[in-house]
Amino acid sequence: MIYRGDPLTGLKILGTGSCVPNHSVTNQMLETVVDTSDDWISSRTGIRSRCIANGDTNLTMAKAAAERAIEAAGIKNSDIEVVLCATITNEYVTPSLSCLLQRELGLNEEVLAFDINAACSGFVYALNTAHSLLQKTSNKYALVVGSEVLSKIMDFTDRNTCVLFGDGSGAVVVKLSRRMPFLFNSGARGDNLVLNCPAIYESNNPFSQNTNEKKAGFLQMDGSEVFRFAVESIKKSIMALLEKAQVSPEEIDHYVLHQANSRIICTAAKRLGAPIERFFMNIEKRGNTSAASIPIALDEMRTSGRLKRGDKLVLSGFGGGLTYGSVYMAW
Ligand code: COA
Repeated sequence: MIYRGDPLTGLKILGTGSCVPNHSVTNQMLETVVDTSDDWISSRTGIRSRCIANGDTNLTMAKAAAERAIEAAGIKNSDIEVVLCATITNEYVTPSLSCLLQRELGLNEEVLAFDINAACSGFVYALNTAHSLLQKTSNKYALVVGSEVLSKIMDFTDRNTCVLFGDGSGAVVVKLSRRMPFLFNSGARGDNLVLNCPAIYESNNPFSQNTNEKKAGFLQMDGSEVFRFAVESIKKSIMALLEKAQVSPEEIDHYVLHQANSRIICTAAKRLGAPIERFFMNIEKRGNTSAASIPIALDEMRTSGRLKRGDKLVLSGFGGGLTYGSVYMAW
């Protein structure tokens, strides 16, 4: 790698893209599968429907989102030099989704491609990693993707989880910029397993006593504990970030929080003392798409004309790990 000498400190989003499955599953459809109701789900989460993969894969959606972001950025596939995918639902342990995308998009062999596993904080972690990598190398453009097929790891007999999540992909193309700010902060609570999903490895290892142990690879969650963690960590993370940026919560034009629950977002807005209208929400029709939720939100905001150049943004993710992380940047 060639190290760059000049101090390009900020990060600019040049283009966004997203892709969600065509197949929308409503709360009423879930009522036929588990003991739940539209009223329970919508009043506690704000979710009315979510898109569920039906033939779409993590790779096909990530590819579509990436192609749209690259087109919106006005660059060529061959210009991409860094690919970072945030996902916990890649089809393979290896190759990474980033390497699969390199192949599908026909990117150069010299590209730096690897995945990031930080669950619902994954996209902001990946954005920060891209920022660091671009600063340390001579690379110009990075493709940062958040992509999930969470329906693969849902237990559709568990009403505590299966009503909350959806599938989809979002992508951005970024480059360093002298004029734009970029600040990041994060935290991890690995001691807390209230949100977890065991990996399934079917082993035939004859040298271990636990060779035939099979675990269901389903997501498990203590909802109220996660709720508490979310509202505490969002406030802590964003306040620390804004203090570093020397910007007050009212000066932020758009808060793009991980779309887990509208009540979490409303509570965060109240605790930050920022107007709720500045908190984008698409949870009603997307559900919680984990690492994909923030880039999908950014793409929907851009394509609906909600973002103006220079707008101040805070992106904030929280979830499995437990992890949290926030970014301060401008559009
Ligand atoms: N339909 C109907 N009832 C359900 C249900 C469903 N889909 N899921 C759970 N319940 C029941 C529970 O079994 C429990 O019943 P019990 O009291 O008889 O044991 C009851 O509802 C719990 O209700 P309540 O206390 O009102 O739930 P809540 O206000 O804590 O809301 C969540 C539950 C899951 C919506 C909420 O805790 C939450 O959103 N947590 C964060 C989850 C999250 O976002 N995770 C991902 C983070 S990235």
